[in-house]
Amino acid sequence: MPDSISPQTHSRQRQLLEELSNAFGPTGHEGPVRAIVRREMDSLADFVETDGIGSLIARIGDESDDVPRVMLSGHMDEVGLMVRQITAEGYLTIQPLGGWLDQALINQRWVVMTRNGPIPGLTGIKTPHVMQPDARTQVFKKESMFIDVGASNKEDAEQRLGIRPGDPIAPDSRFQEMAGGELYIGKAWDDRAGVAGLIEVARALRESADPLPATVYLVATVQEEVGLRGAHTSSFHVMPDIGINLESGVAGDYPGITKDEAQEELGKGPTVFLHDSSMLPNLRLRDFFVDTAAALEMPLQFNVLSGYGEDGAEMQKAGSGAPSINIAVPTRYLHSHNGVIHRDDFANAVRLVTEVVRRLTPETVSALTTFD
Ligand code: CO
Repeated sequence: MPDSISPQTHSRQRQLLEELSNAFGPTGHEGPVRAIVRREMDSLADFVETDGIGSLIARIGDESDDVPRVMLSGHMDEVGLMVRQITAEGYLTIQPLGGWLDQALINQRWVVMTRNGPIPGLTGIKTPHVMQPDARTQVFKKESMFIDVGASNKEDAEQRLGIRPGDPIAPDSRFQEMAGGELYIGKAWDDRAGVAGLIEVARALRESADPLPATVYLVATVQEEVGLRGAHTSSFHVMPDIGINLESGVAGDYPGITKDEAQEELGKGPTVFLHDSSMLPNLRLRDFFVDTAAALEMPLQFNVLSGYGEDGAEMQKAGSGAPSINIAVPTRYLHSHNGVIHRDDFANAVRLVTEVVRRLTPETVSALTTFD
């Protein structure tokens, strides 16, 4: 790795990633994450506002028609659950928020955010001692799951614990360093890695002495995991000329997954998505990233995914459209209690996006947005 990533940078970024990963923020309940983003952006951006459903829009530079409008996005929400109802016995039934595998939900610890604050709970699993042999090999369906909060009955759950239908639930997982400190275990790298990236790019742009050739909108979106809803409204608010989305990538470097399913590996650099089910990137913008990574002597990866959806799709479609791209930090085990990222991939994604933004002059953007 280039020595341009200093120990101080790693230390600051680790602290930010840890705080954001640990923060509570299932889809539709992004407040604690938004508070962190606002705290940071208040000192880094020229103007900070929120839109009608809660996405936070931080602007660096003046509102002007003379320079390009470059929008960077990352989503604040994580996959989680919601309380559907409280049973007479005091257990919670659940509505998933976002795409969960059934087997990732069972026998996990959770945080239920009530009007009185957070309380712990767990998805109970039937004990094998009472099961017939063939039932022991079957996957538990989410429809049969419940959360045990230790209430003695419905009234106890409502009155003493303060639980109401609609209360949000997030995985109970804590950040941890792994393998000597280069790898980070945590929940919600999808997409707190992208949200941390927005903040770090803003910091890097602020530290630059040269004036920026564009107005930069750094947008922390809500409700991505249920259909890119925050990116939809905020993209129409910003009306970008160029869209750059920061996401968690899909690593394909562990047992049971093939390189044809996902081509990224941890530690091999940030990733450019070339296909996902929501968006095709502008290939001239792809080449601009490739050339910039080469100039920085930075590793860069590609991924062609058949599934997945991301906020870039909404920037691409806002107004009369904008060349857009998805830049990802390779991540193992998305949409579960524990994922893994490599600190160098994050740091390099920040460097790459920062350098690309610095090079998006009116001439460059005009070339990217002109079609023969
Ligand atoms: Co995501």
